[in-house]
Amino acid sequence: IPPPTLYYPPLPTGQQVPLQSRNESWKFPKDFWYGVAGAAYQIEGAVKAEGRGPSVWDVLTHRVTNYVRTNDTGDIADNNYYQYKEDIARIAAIGIKTYSFSLSWSRILPFGSGPVNEQALRHYDDLIDTCLQYGVTPMVTLYHWDTPLFLQNLYGGWLSPRIIPDFTEYARVVFTRWHSKVHYWFTVNEPIVFCNFYPLPTNYFKNTSIPKKQQPYFCGHHVLLSHAAAYHLGKGINSSLSISFKTNGGYKIPLTDSESDAEAVQRAWDFQEGWFAHPTFLTGDYPPRLKEYVETFLTPFTEEQKGQIVNTSDIFAHDAYTSDFIMAPDTGIDACLSNTTHDLYPACYNTTKVYSNGYWAIGPASDPGSPWLNKATDWVPAFLRYMQDTWKPRDGIAIAEFGISEPYESLRSSLASILLDPVRSSYYRDYLSAILIALSEGVNVVGTLAWSIYDNLEWSQGYSVKFGIQYVNLTTQERYFKASAFEYVNMFNIYQEK
Ligand code: NOJ
Repeated sequence: IPPPTLYYPPLPTGQQVPLQSRNESWKFPKDFWYGVAGAAYQIEGAVKAEGRGPSVWDVLTHRVTNYVRTNDTGDIADNNYYQYKEDIARIAAIGIKTYSFSLSWSRILPFGSGPVNEQALRHYDDLIDTCLQYGVTPMVTLYHWDTPLFLQNLYGGWLSPRIIPDFTEYARVVFTRWHSKVHYWFTVNEPIVFCNFYPLPTNYFKNTSIPKKQQPYFCGHHVLLSHAAAYHLGKGINSSLSISFKTNGGYKIPLTDSESDAEAVQRAWDFQEGWFAHPTFLTGDYPPRLKEYVETFLTPFTEEQKGQIVNTSDIFAHDAYTSDFIMAPDTGIDACLSNTTHDLYPACYNTTKVYSNGYWAIGPASDPGSPWLNKATDWVPAFLRYMQDTWKPRDGIAIAEFGISEPYESLRSSLASILLDPVRSSYYRDYLSAILIALSEGVNVVGTLAWSIYDNLEWSQGYSVKFGIQYVNLTTQERYFKASAFEYVNMFNIYQEK
């Protein structure tokens, strides 16, 4: 597939980009990597093939009515389990040299622990080898939310410390198999999101005695210990591996100048980035405001555990899609803390998305997309600088996911209208321009991964919310590049040092 020639004027004329930043120093360094990402349950399909065991997501999609919008499932998804060769060939053809995917734990260990499924290992052998044949760097995530069902029902999955040796054993299998072919590893994807899945719908999974509000903290606790154990084990197998957590968040802007909003912003940092970044980059322990606000929910780490956890992320691999306005709760802090209806954590801040551009309308009610209409040049440089100054990651920062669901996209039906995705295109241009600014100001950003390689099962939103830089016809399984795929690559054609 020959790469098409597309050229866009390098600099958008928007006033958001400070003029003094637009100069010759806008360059992606030679070794800056850029790629696309996907995750096993969202793209693979083939859920009953070649010995795969079930994961919690098979139950959530099949048994729990309306857990997923329109009751979509990952049974077939993008058929990536069978079309991965084509998928890798396609991204390589347009110049994308990095592919980030996750392994399905319950393919490799159908029961989560115990017997290893050789067929699954051979499948991923070939996927990884295909990447290497095409000159594409594989980046592997061990856990992207698809807990083996057996472990969920045996002991409650991430709610139990029993997951730590099981996750470590799984890590041993995969590091041992692929350490000589895969350099970049991510242990666990977006813990603040999947720990928020707890409690899982109780009729369908084994019940637990852990109170509802505490479940996310139990999950987070075992995630940190599992991550740390896997990190040390991986380094023991091959000390040159790059192993990192994969977290998520975004820039936080106080809505007003009030002191209470400023404090809410501090809580938001600690409860989002800080929950996992503070222990892994700084102290081995939870950040101060987490301890202050939810002390009674947190299991303390022993000194030995803190020593295990600290310095266990080589890169700050962070999924940062957008920024948020942050507000203190109207009711004041005390009322907020005593409110028992919080689902995730009584962090006591509210967020609202930043709708700042005004150059397109927000989709109508029938549009299931959730466009995040802020301009990256307004917040990304500040955000990256803040991350570097606060958590000081040793090997730099990677934007491990970024992307946008194009407004109205799922309401379009002609192929031509789907493949022209101007909002997503300008999102990638703006975001990458913002990274260029940050780089020129000395922030060590090392790579980006666009979410996603193609439209896929957007979890509880089903297939109707689309983040892909490719469209997939789910009936024929044909893939098509959207305009944004070329826009993304073209930013590097223009700005990367040769
Ligand atoms: C984060 C998750 O890691 C991914 O699975 C999801 O599809 C995207 N963001 C978009 O919401």
